[in-house]
Amino acid sequence: MRIAVEQELKSLPHNLIVPIAQNQPNAPVFERIAQWTTLSPEEIQQDFTAEAGEVQLLYAKQGKIFLLGLGNEPDAAAILKAFRSFSYKQKKKLSSEVGILFSDTTLKLPLVRQVEASLNGFVLGTYQIGQFKTEEVEKHPLTTDDCTLTIFASANATELLAAARRGEATAETQMSIFDLVNAPSNKKTPQHLAEWALASGKAYGYRVEVWDKKQIEEVGLHALLAVNRGSEYPPAFIIMEYRPTAAAEGIPKVGLVGKGVTFDTGGLSIKPSTNMHYMKSDMGGAAAVFGTIELAAKLQLPVHLIGVVPSTDNSVDALSIKPSDVINSYSGKTIEVIDTDAEGRLILADGLNYMVRHFQPEVLINLATLTGSAVRTFGYHAAALFSNNDELTAALTKAANATGERLWAMPMWDVYKDDIKSDVADVRNFSGKPVAGAIGAAKFLEAFINNHSNWAHFDIAGVAFTDSEFASQKSATAYGVRLLIEYLSNLATEK
Ligand code: BES
Ligand code: ZN
Ligand code: ZN
Repeated sequence: MRIAVEQELKSLPHNLIVPIAQNQPNAPVFERIAQWTTLSPEEIQQDFTAEAGEVQLLYAKQGKIFLLGLGNEPDAAAILKAFRSFSYKQKKKLSSEVGILFSDTTLKLPLVRQVEASLNGFVLGTYQIGQFKTEEVEKHPLTTDDCTLTIFASANATELLAAARRGEATAETQMSIFDLVNAPSNKKTPQHLAEWALASGKAYGYRVEVWDKKQIEEVGLHALLAVNRGSEYPPAFIIMEYRPTAAAEGIPKVGLVGKGVTFDTGGLSIKPSTNMHYMKSDMGGAAAVFGTIELAAKLQLPVHLIGVVPSTDNSVDALSIKPSDVINSYSGKTIEVIDTDAEGRLILADGLNYMVRHFQPEVLINLATLTGSAVRTFGYHAAALFSNNDELTAALTKAANATGERLWAMPMWDVYKDDIKSDVADVRNFSGKPVAGAIGAAKFLEAFINNHSNWAHFDIAGVAFTDSEFASQKSATAYGVRLLIEYLSNLATEK
């Protein structure tokens, strides 16, 4: 897509989009728009109240003008959402010459942020979920070869162009993550995840190493192997490492670990069938790690990132682990498996322990679609955050608020340690009680981080896969990518 920045709007493009916030009822922009049409500013405002997502199409001689409502004092998330839904729903009315007029100088959100969020949303709205459809679907005008998008705004053109490109790059990575998470498990084995990472590493210049089953056995990732016992497909252990190409001294080293369960049947503690098809998304944590590293590499963020993704599916077989089995782990701790459906914490135990022992990151973050308990607590609107460090909690919360990828900090009190006490092994993977499930899972993970003092665990079970305009069923959100990129950008500038 060709992106241009113009300080002034001299002639109307075929499609002009004018984002308008609600806090400016008599904005001068209505007078400008009126000049291009046969309407008066008052008439335009009669039918358009700038509610979030509201679209009003006006026909001018030279083209179409779309007024896009942003609601009251919109933040980046509101702008992104309005543009995404506009782009997706109005694609049939758009053509390949598009302009966006940023006219509101009173918004609290800086203009570069507005431009970035708009482009991010606009490009995301080109997403098409039917990756396995055999019939050709109509192209979104923004994805055609001759598409030009012009940003009309009176500010530093270089900065605005960079912001627009950042928004576009973010959306492209997010859409690649959508495809990965939306793919069914027969098309998305651990090997496929590894191939995705290898291809991304090659394209964007970061190191990717993939261990096969033999290497996983040699290294002794016993908990990953235990979960994989019931599977038709071998496990994969994926290690990624990104450093900026320009030598940067003293940059922070951040370790990211993601749950890569390509399908979770529950194992012998099998899940009910009603919503089991959604369990193809049980690698949403891995996807967030992939997307964050890819985008950090694209943007050349001045941070040193290590990513670790243990991957397998959780299936039913004569060889599957059984409730009561005692398994070993990479850390050396033995684990009593009370419930085979609590498999994510088992593979993460190995992923986290490998990460802290081999890479000693200054910050340790893991993401996982870990518990139904997190879904029952927050529904589909926020991730549960568990951390042993208040500064890290504050920094992640700040990034969450700035991006609209909500999170809420949960307690990690040691009274919950009883939940993982086992009679026969060092720990057990489930308390057996239908209470405090997300906290119990976090306490389990904590047992494998070797007292790392700057750790955060995101339980993203409710937010990785939700309803959206893209599909009638739930689909991928790429939750975590924007949040972590925001966090890492802040971390880099603070250092
Ligand atoms: N993958 C699930 C958690 C999940 C639930 C993700 C709903 C997305 C939506 C996880 O492996 C799981 O099954 N957790 C169990 C653990 C329990 C058996 C201790 C749960 O939360 O019910
Ligand atoms: Zn499970
Ligand atoms: Zn799971």
